[in-house]
Parts: sequence; C-alpha cells; structure tokens
Amino acid sequence: MSKLMFRLLRREQRAFLARDRGAWGDHLGRVRAFLGEGFLAADPARPLLVLGAGSGLEVPWTLAPPLAEGWDADPWSRVRTWLRHLRWAPWTFEDATGGLADLEATVRRALEEPWSHRHRDPRAAARRLAGLLPSLHPHPAALAAWIEGHRPGTILAANLMGQFGVVAEALVEAAFGKASPWEGDPERPDPLAEALEAWTARAVAAFLAVLAQSGADLWLIHDRAVVFNGGCLELGPWADAWTGQFRAGTPPLEARDPLAGVDVLAELARRPGLRIEAKTRWLWDLAPGQRHLVEALHARP
Ligand SMILES: C[S@@+](CC[C@H](N)C(=O)[O-])C[C@H]1O[C@@H](n2cnc3c(N)ncnc32)[C@H](O)[C@@H]1O
Repeated sequence: MSKLMFRLLRREQRAFLARDRGAWGDHLGRVRAFLGEGFLAADPARPLLVLGAGSGLEVPWTLAPPLAEGWDADPWSRVRTWLRHLRWAPWTFEDATGGLADLEATVRRALEEPWSHRHRDPRAAARRLAGLLPSLHPHPAALAAWIEGHRPGTILAANLMGQFGVVAEALVEAAFGKASPWEGDPERPDPLAEALEAWTARAVAAFLAVLAQSGADLWLIHDRAVVFNGGCLELGPWADAWTGQFRAGTPPLEARDPLAGVDVLAELARRPGLRIEAKTRWLWDLAPGQRHLVEALHARP
C-alpha cells in the first residue's frame, strides 16, 4: 500500500480516537460485549481473525483465544493494541478491500494528461475519473488468500466496512489537492460522487462475498447509517430498509448511508448455507449532530 494510503488511514484513526469519547460509554459497552461474545464462542483450536482491529478500543483482546490475529491497514494499529491490551498478536497490514491501490492509480491517471504529464484541469480530471471508475472492480484477494491459508473458525469485522467509502473519498480529495473534485452545487448531479458511491458498493459487496464463503462464524459490526438530525431519535421495529427503522413521527432524515446501499443483513441472509444467528442494533451518539445507527450481526455456516 502507498504512503498516501497509510497516511490517510492513520489520519482517519487518529480523528476517531481524538473525538470526545465522554458519551460513548453505552456504545463501547455494547460493541465490546458483542465482540467479546464472538471471542468466547470461538473454537480455541482454530485461527480467528479480527478485521478492522484498529487500536483495540472496541475489541476486548483479553478475551481473545490464543490463535487470534489482527488485520488493519493502519501501520500503528498493532503497537496501539499492544499498548492498550499488552497483546502482541500476529497482524496483517493490508487493504481489506483489495481495491485501494487500483483506485489510487486510476485517480493519478485521471489527473495527468497522457502526453505532457501535466495536471489536467480539475473539472476535466473529475469527469475523466467518473468515466474510469466503473471499470474498477475491487476484489479482496489478500483477504481471500489469508482465509484459504489459515481456515479461520471465526472472523470478527470490527467497524471497518463503513470506512471503505470514507477512505476512498479521502484518497480522491488528497490527490486533487486544493481543488475540490466534487460538484459544488447540491442541485446539480455529481457524476464523480455517484461513480465513487458505486465503487464503494462494489467494494463492500465483494468483501462480504469473501466473508460469506469463508466457512467461518461471522461477527460483523458496522455503521448502518450516519444521521445528522438533531432532537429526539428513537428506533422502531426492524424493517428491511434502514430508513424505515426509526419510530413513526421522525422528521425527514438527514442521513448518509456509509455502505452505499448494500444491505449486509440481506446479503448474508440470501447466502445458502449461512444462517443469521443474532441481530441487534443501537444508536451511537458519536459527536454533536452526528448519530450512527450501528448494526451487529452474527451469522454461522
Ligand atoms: C472505525 S475504526 C474501528 C476501530 C477499531 N475497531 C478499534 O477497536 O479501535 C476502522 C478501522 O478500520 C481500518 N480500515 C479502514 N479501511 C480499511 C481497509 N480498507 N483495510 C484495512 N483496514 C481498514 C482503519 O485503519 C481503522 O482502524
């Protein structure tokens, strides 16, 4: 992975850890309990993989079985985990989407005129990139190879799926430098934003497909939605679409879908040979004016 990608991932993780965590008690308790259950239910004789292990803020490593390994592209994640939990687990520092290197190369290609190697005008580069992105099909080859080689009994995905799109956006913005790649007028279509959203959807779906075929017990936790509404917000009964999961009377939602339209529960439920054992969700007050709808799913082969 390039230095730019390492830098961006470190920046995202630092921003995450630097937030005021005063109101996170409930969320942290729930996420640690969920992942801890995954650790305790795992076969101690088989490898276990923690994807998006980060610094271990959400991961109760003291409960982890002996063959547990971490996976996180942030180069500081393993050291931070050791500092927090005194656990020096084997670690993989790879991109879990398998698509970020190609994305980065494509952004550079779009920014550069082929003959002169000069920077294109940012508007023209954004249009060119929007045209190139549909040909990219991220595939988590390194993850698939790890699974093939280690045959893990359990995989935990600790809040990383919602980061795929965030990191991809940060990558595009960093490459464009001071010129914004996005359409400034919210009333007008933004072909680049749409193409990147579609890339994110493909990355999430490909990642899920590899997990679903792994033969492992899956414990997945992820942001289902990021809601910016102020005031009271309560969850109603489960509904197929996450937008329908809030209590009746909720004002129109100002929200973003970090999974770019991929419904993890539906994706797993439609897989033959995989059954949903448990599903739960809650609201996490991450910061003023920013609440996340968090979904935690346990699926078994
Ligand atoms: C919201 S944080 C989760 C925090 C973590 N579970 C913890 O307990 O500290 C998301 C993590 O996913 C990692 N991540 C994001 N995109 C990734 C990718 N494409 N490949 C590997 N790791 C990624 C980030 O580096 C970060 O540590």
